[in-house]
Amino acid sequence: MTDELPVAPLSELTRRRSAKWRKYPAGVLPLHVAEMDFALAPPVLAALREAVDASDVGYSHAEPELGEAYAGFAADRWGWQVDPAAVTAITDVGVGVVELLRVFTRPGDMVAISPPVYPPFFDWNPEAGVRTFEVPLHRDETGYRLDLAAIETAFALHPAVYVLSNPHNPVGRVHTAEELTALVRLAARYRVTLVSDEIHAPLVLPGAAYTPILSLPGAADVAVAVVSASKAFNLAGLKCAAVVTASARMAAAVEDFPPDSRWRTGHLGVIASIAAFRHGGPWLDQLLHTLDARRTQLGRLLRDRLPAVSWHPPQATYLAWLDCHKLADDPQPFFLDRAKVALEDGLHFGAAGAGHVRLNYGTGAHVLDEATARLAAALSG
Ligand SMILES: Cc1ncc(COP(=O)(O)O)c(C=O)c1O
Repeated sequence: MTDELPVAPLSELTRRRSAKWRKYPAGVLPLHVAEMDFALAPPVLAALREAVDASDVGYSHAEPELGEAYAGFAADRWGWQVDPAAVTAITDVGVGVVELLRVFTRPGDMVAISPPVYPPFFDWNPEAGVRTFEVPLHRDETGYRLDLAAIETAFALHPAVYVLSNPHNPVGRVHTAEELTALVRLAARYRVTLVSDEIHAPLVLPGAAYTPILSLPGAADVAVAVVSASKAFNLAGLKCAAVVTASARMAAAVEDFPPDSRWRTGHLGVIASIAAFRHGGPWLDQLLHTLDARRTQLGRLLRDRLPAVSWHPPQATYLAWLDCHKLADDPQPFFLDRAKVALEDGLHFGAAGAGHVRLNYGTGAHVLDEATARLAAALSG
């Protein structure tokens, strides 16, 4: 039996200065943005301490270690063979996707996405000068999944790119190998490039299995993946992600990135990511065990305290997509105002997010207990 990762008391957590802890006034319990409350993985902390102690805080130089470390991690965890030379460091996943869109599109092209989806998916397209084409996820009583029939209809209209969230934020869906294989076939048939945001891949929870899109037959020529240690190891502020390719065609796309982009990755992010990929496996296993327990706890708390809220427990991530339409049309401001709990507003994820909030359960049992008690009290008060 693995121990759960501890989380500091709230009096200590509130001393953090990151967006999670500074966006809302003191007294608001923040469960909105995707930052976790666990302490850093010990090998990551040691690598960062060593760098800071040595005043090693200049510009980053990621090659070849970042690619080698990621390839080792991918092979160990998923049996996925990655060419270390096909791993290119980039500032963060958002920058990686925007730079890829700039390479694969011309101004005014369409780029398809599947809402409800991580809000910046809506922002990255205009940033890259392209139009957004929405192909919503299919939803039924079992949860959400890619709507392959609707994707085929959309692809027949020739969007230049489809941006995939694999696994999917906010619904926590881990797309199956069959679904992704069908998506790759459609992309090849209709000549649509797939940009797969795989930042949540290391956060697939017990009961589901991640399929790297590039591990599928035929994917190398049509797909590129953007990966990072930043969600699973809680390193978002250190600014390091990577673009992974598996064919000469896609590698050429990365060559077209602006020459200065190599200077824009955080040096401490590269150091922390290498340590995470090389030595973070045991800590990550403990994290997944902890998140699994938190997912179960949340299910129990929702059932006992907030029975009008419905959800499908996520297969990945530490984000719960809660359907609150029976409680309020616009639940986020209601809960912020009445319960002093900050959740992510479902409408930020697209129109399908109406009546929903996203709750971050990457925290301690005590925080989840406090948050759900406050939400329930707000409803009864
Ligand atoms: C699906 C997805 N992509 C990208 C990001 C942001 O990644 P980055 O900070 O590396 O841009 C997040 C953050 O939560 C996310 O959930």
